[in-house]
Amino acid sequence: MPKAYVFDRHGGPEVEALADVERPVPGPGQVLVAVRAAGVNPVDWKRRVGYAPVGAPPIELPAVFGSEVSGVVEEVGEGVTWFNPGDAVFGNPTTGGYAEYTLLPAELTAHKPAEVSFADAATLPVAAATAWDGIRQLELPPGATLLITGVGGGVGVAAAQIALHEGLKVIGTASVGKKDFVEGLGVTYVEPGTGVADRVRAAAPGGVDAVYDLVGGAALEEVAEVLEDPGKLITAADRQTVAKLGGSPVRRARDRAVLDAVARLVVEGVLRPYVTETFPLDRAGEALRKVEDGHARGKIVIEVSG
Ligand SMILES: NC(=O)c1ccc[n+]([C@@H]2O[C@H](COP(=O)([O-])OP(=O)(O)OC[C@H]3O[C@@H](n4cnc5c(N)ncnc54)[C@H](OP(=O)(O)O)[C@@H]3O)[C@@H](O)[C@H]2O)c1
Repeated sequence: MPKAYVFDRHGGPEVEALADVERPVPGPGQVLVAVRAAGVNPVDWKRRVGYAPVGAPPIELPAVFGSEVSGVVEEVGEGVTWFNPGDAVFGNPTTGGYAEYTLLPAELTAHKPAEVSFADAATLPVAAATAWDGIRQLELPPGATLLITGVGGGVGVAAAQIALHEGLKVIGTASVGKKDFVEGLGVTYVEPGTGVADRVRAAAPGGVDAVYDLVGGAALEEVAEVLEDPGKLITAADRQTVAKLGGSPVRRARDRAVLDAVARLVVEGVLRPYVTETFPLDRAGEALRKVEDGHARGKIVIEVSG
């Protein structure tokens, strides 16, 4: 039987296991994919502890981890005409990504350009697409200054590159150990923590036009005061705090057009996914711990042998 990395109840890492699972069968509008790579995201461990993303269907247990994959189409369900067996694709699975096989809704699946590796493509459906959606939402003109909190992680690295490509100036907070890494992206580094608002003002004497928060909580509250217009404050990390501050959560488009757009940026050399570590499926737990520890650098990816 195919393998998958699952949780069978809500809790800590002790509820995780590599398990034998049924090979899923594609229903109408679905694509069965032999997974080649799966991106690891904070939402994966958050679902394990019981968090339900807004609009997501209730979690059925046991559940397979993972919400972004790349792979090769094995079978297509009724009504799917855009994909054929053998196509290399990437997208958002409905039956988990840390698995040998998964199902993707055809509308959340895109063809993988040949120039993009499976590992890189697996970072696009959640991390890069969230970065893209946030930058679109902010509608900043070239030359504007954007502050990104948590710039050294999966969404932040992608958001910084997209923003810089669009002619924005980018200031970012990350732990001191990531200073050289984020400066290498072209971002002006600011240390987070007490006094961060003053350090941001010093780094942006002309003012900050927008904040894209990827940390939430106190880190979001501490930087909100640098903005005159809370309408330009968005977060992917903390709906409650941003509502209190007058800002908004990032609005996710969740469609194929965004997947195609971010893949095009990779092909053009604008967006580098920065996969900093890969793990085989039987070490998925180690990959997840890297992200759950809260200090991931770029993207962590699980590779599934083809
Ligand atoms: N709504 C959506 O659709 C959506 C989609 C994707 C992600 N998200 C959410 O967005 C957030 C970021 O996702 P991600 O994939 O980028 O996570 P990630 O890869 O874990 O990156 C988060 C980054 O924040 C940094 N960080 C932690 N505390 C910080 C602080 N106080 N100040 C500055 N940086 C800090 C971390 O490392 P250092 O501390 O070492 O710098 C890490 O690099 C998560 O909460 C995730 O659940 C939401």
